[in-house]
Amino acid sequence: MITEQKPAPATTPVGESFIEIRDLHHEYAGITALDSVSLDVRAGEFVTLLGPSGSGKSSLLHILAGLVSATSGTISIAGRDITRVPPQKREIGLVFQNYALFPHLTAAENIRFPHNVRKTPERDASARVAEVLELVELTALADRRPDQLSGGQQQRVAVGRAISAVPKVLLLDEPLGALDRRLRQQLGHEIRRVQRETGITTLYVTHDQEEAFTMSDRVVVMNHGEIRQVGTPEEVYARPSDSFVANFVGEVNLWPVTVDNRESGTTIATIAETARFSARCGDDARRSAGALVVAVRPERVWVWRPDGPPPRPEIQLVDSGVIVESTFLGNSRSVVVESGRLGRTTALLYDGEEPRDRGENVSFGWEARHALVIPQ
Ligand SMILES: Nc1ncnc2c1ncn2[C@@H]1O[C@H](COP(=O)(O)OP(=O)(O)O)[C@@H](O)[C@H]1O
Ligand SMILES: [Mg+2]
Repeated sequence: MITEQKPAPATTPVGESFIEIRDLHHEYAGITALDSVSLDVRAGEFVTLLGPSGSGKSSLLHILAGLVSATSGTISIAGRDITRVPPQKREIGLVFQNYALFPHLTAAENIRFPHNVRKTPERDASARVAEVLELVELTALADRRPDQLSGGQQQRVAVGRAISAVPKVLLLDEPLGALDRRLRQQLGHEIRRVQRETGITTLYVTHDQEEAFTMSDRVVVMNHGEIRQVGTPEEVYARPSDSFVANFVGEVNLWPVTVDNRESGTTIATIAETARFSARCGDDARRSAGALVVAVRPERVWVWRPDGPPPRPEIQLVDSGVIVESTFLGNSRSVVVESGRLGRTTALLYDGEEPRDRGENVSFGWEARHALVIPQ
């Protein structure tokens, strides 16, 4: 056993950040890939960079790995500035989609590879390879070459190889991108289990919101080379900082809105100068001087018969209209209501909620606490 190589996290004081990224800028021949990126990751944390294609996620990971050097800014890991440290001395494990396994080596040999490079004593290396094979559940397939393994098994070898030499930090760039949905979910859970068991501080990249939410302690939402929001999946979903984040982390209804004031927690919001209701003003709206929108998640929209009262007293009548689309989704039904003031509103209905069919007239609305006013 090579216990002295266990990752550093436990020795880092609680609350201190293990990875410190300060004001990173990066340009590729005039294209800005990263703009003032600062981020703190705590020891043992699993943090996911989530954003659309081209938002700078891979650039940030490549800079952390030392494969690309940033135009400006600094990075430190475990209190040590590594901005100018070469990649092989950073003690970082990598799993990239295009960072292939060695095709002529078996699973065990691939996992052993980092120890050959480091000249780990034979006995220690063998013990560690056995331990890692066990951890990624490949003991029975140890002697197979990559072409004798499925895509999912190959990525487990890649994860095994990345953690084999007990890196300080593990970086994964869309490692499940090439796999089908079920396998992605299953392997995602396995990666998280391995991460928990090893305690290795991990930065994970994906453009898939569901993957980010199910795996991460915290999510970093990126767009155009900038960090737009950092928070737990719950925070980012329920209190998105702007309309980009609201849209990117799930379905949402968004309307341009005016408010009576940006100060208090609850405000009167008006859509299209006529639809008035109580809404919640977030901190981001308070700080912003620009245009505002109101965001309401479809599962927070209620519909009812136009001649009746709302299903619960807290629910405000916002408008009435007609159902123009009704789509069965399995565990719910997505309904689009067309109305004079709001245009199209999407509602998610559960368990026989009615009205729900195309052509039916409905009133609809929501609770004040589920209508969030945010910068556009
Ligand atoms: N090697 C490169 N040369 C030039 N431009 C690049 C290079 N790599 C990335 N870019 C550009 O930098 C921006 C961010 O890219 P990237 O970090 O790959 O984003 P993501 O991983 O989120 O898709 C994009 O505009 C992309 O076109
Ligand atoms: Mg990328």
